[in-house]
Amino acid sequence: MCGIVGYIGHREAYPIIIKGLKRLEYRGYDSAGIMLFDGQELKVSKTKGKVTDLEEKSSREMTINGTIGIGHTRWATHGVPNDVNSHPHVSNSGNLVIIHNGIIENYAPLKEELIKRGYVFHSDTDSEVLINLIEDVQKKENLKLGKAVQIALNQVVGAYAICVFDKQKPDEIVVARLGSPLAIGVGEDEYFIASDASPFIEYTSNAIYLEDEEMAVVRLHKPLKIRKIKDDTLVDPYIQELKMNLEQIEKGGYDHFMLKEIYEQPSVIKDTYRGRLHANLGLIQMAGIEDNLEKFLNANRILIVACGTSWHAGLVAEYIFEEFTRIPVEVEYASEFRYRNPVINKGDVVIAISQSGETADTLAAIKLAKERGAFVFGVCNVVGSSISRETHAGAYTHAGPEIGVASTKAFTTQITVLTMIALRLAKAKGTLTNSDFHRYLQELEIIPEKVAEALQTNDKAKEIAEIFKTAPNCLYLGRGYNFPVALEGALKLKEISYIHAEGYPAAEMKHGPIALIDEHMPVIVIAPKQGHYDKVVSNIQEIKSRSGIIIAVVTKGDTQVRELADYVIEIPETSDALSPLLTTIPLQLLSYHIAVMRECNVDQPRNLAKSVTVE
Ligand code: G6P
Repeated sequence: MCGIVGYIGHREAYPIIIKGLKRLEYRGYDSAGIMLFDGQELKVSKTKGKVTDLEEKSSREMTINGTIGIGHTRWATHGVPNDVNSHPHVSNSGNLVIIHNGIIENYAPLKEELIKRGYVFHSDTDSEVLINLIEDVQKKENLKLGKAVQIALNQVVGAYAICVFDKQKPDEIVVARLGSPLAIGVGEDEYFIASDASPFIEYTSNAIYLEDEEMAVVRLHKPLKIRKIKDDTLVDPYIQELKMNLEQIEKGGYDHFMLKEIYEQPSVIKDTYRGRLHANLGLIQMAGIEDNLEKFLNANRILIVACGTSWHAGLVAEYIFEEFTRIPVEVEYASEFRYRNPVINKGDVVIAISQSGETADTLAAIKLAKERGAFVFGVCNVVGSSISRETHAGAYTHAGPEIGVASTKAFTTQITVLTMIALRLAKAKGTLTNSDFHRYLQELEIIPEKVAEALQTNDKAKEIAEIFKTAPNCLYLGRGYNFPVALEGALKLKEISYIHAEGYPAAEMKHGPIALIDEHMPVIVIAPKQGHYDKVVSNIQEIKSRSGIIIAVVTKGDTQVRELADYVIEIPETSDALSPLLTTIPLQLLSYHIAVMRECNVDQPRNLAKSVTVE
C-alpha cells in the first residue's frame, strides 16, 4: 500500500522525508520517490526498489536542499513497478507535482480527453492523469491550486490520498483524502503530512486525521483550513494528541498486523471489486477476462494451481465455477502438479492463485502449464510480481500488503476475484438465470457490510478462545462451499497457535475422525442456514452423541443448531456460494485470540515464511 510523506516548515525536508518513508516501509511497496523545492528549483528523484535505493540515487540527483518536499513509497496498482511509474509525478507544464495513494477508476476516459487536449503522458499511472487534470482545470479557469484540486477531484471516481505541490505557490501543499488515510502533524511553524503518524511522531504529537471527502491547504504560517471536497463547507480541524508508540501506529493501533488485516477485509474486498462490479448495471468488467473471454468460454476444463491458503481459495472457486459456469474444474497443489507429469490439453485454462506472486512451486507449475500449451491466468495480490509477469493474463486482488504470515485478507479477496470471474463467464455462457446473476451481483456488492458485521463476533471469538486455548487438538467441519473454509480454519489455528487441527468435509468425519471425538475434542462446525443445513445438523448430532464439544458458526437467528451446540457464533445471512466470505471471519478471529492467549508470535509464527520462494 502506498505511503505518503510531506513536509513544509523551517527544517531540511530531505532527511525528514527519507526517514518518514522508511517508517512507512511496513506498508509494503515496490518503488520510492521524492520531490524537493529550494525556492527556485524543483527536483524529483525516484526509483524502483527500496528507500535505500532512493537514498543512493537521490544522493546523486538531488543537488538542492529545501524546506518543503514530498515523498512516496509506491505499491503498484496501475502500471508495473519501474522508475517512470514511481511517484512523484509532474504535470506537463512542470509546475505541479503529485503523490497519490489509491486508485482512480475513471482514469481511462479522463486520460483520453486530456490527450485530445494535447497532454502527453510518460507513465502508465492513473496518478499522472490526475495531476494533469488538476493542471488543466487550473489553467482553464486561472484558479488557485486548492480550488483546482477540488474541482478535479469532483470529476474523479475512486480512492485517493494525495499531496499536490505547485512551484508557483511554494508555501503550500494541498492534501485530500477519500478512502486512503492521511494525517497532518501540526508543529511550531511547520506541518508534516503522512499516511499515518509514524513519520512525524518524534517531531509533534499533535495530529489531524483527515476524514473521507476532506481536503486541506497546508500553508506555512497559516492555520489549517479543512473543507469538504463536494460542497466546499468548512470543517473545524480536530487536533488529536497522539499517545501511541511508533510500533502501534504502524499497526494502525492494532496489536498485530494479522488483526489489522482481518479488520481491513470490508474495505479491501471493496477495493477488489471497485471498478469491476457494477451491480446497478448488471455488469462485471475485468480487463484480463474480457481480453481472453473466448479462451475461458472454449475451455474444456479449468485447472487451478496454488499453495497454502491460496489453494483453499482455489477449492472454494472450484465449487463456485462448476455451479455457475458448468466448466469442470480441478484444483491442485502446485508442488504436486509440477512433478507429476500432469495431462494438460491445449484448450485447458490454468488459473494460478498466489498472494505474493512469488511462490516457487506455483511459479514452476505455471511454467510447466505454459510449456504444454495451456493458457495461464494469474490471480495475484502483488503487482509486478514474478507470477503476474509469467502468466498470460490475470487479475489483481488489490488487497494491499499482507504482512502477517497467516493469510487472511488475501483469502477473501482471492475468493472475491474468482467469484467475479465465474459470474462473468456464467453471464457469457448463460449458465445462470438472469435473476440469479443479478442477485449474486447485488449480494457481492453488499458483502463488505456483512463482513463488517461478521467482525462483530470478535468478543464471542475471544470468549470461546479463552475456553479452548489449551486444547491439544481441534476439528473443523464444513460441507460444500464451506468445506474449504473448514480446511482454512484449521490451517489458521495450526499456523499461529501450534494446536493440531484438521479440517474435514462434515460427512467424511464418519470415515475416520469420528474416532477422535470425546468430551475433550472441540469441533468447529460451519453450519450456515443456506446449503446443506439439514445434513450438517445430522453431523452435529453424530458428534453430540459422542460427547464432542460443538462450536458452531451459524446464520443469525438460527435456532436448530443453537439447541445442539455448546457455543454458537452468528454471522449475517447470504447465499450459499458467497458464505465463505463470512464464515471464514470468526475462524480467523478465533485462531488469532487463541494464539495471543498462548503467547505465540502471531505475525511471525515459527518455521513459516510469508513468501516461499524455494521449493
Ligand atoms: C506460505 C504462506 C501462506 C500462503 C502460502 C502461499 O506458506 O505462509 O500464508 O498461503 O505461502 O503463498 P502465496 O503467496 O502463493 O499465496
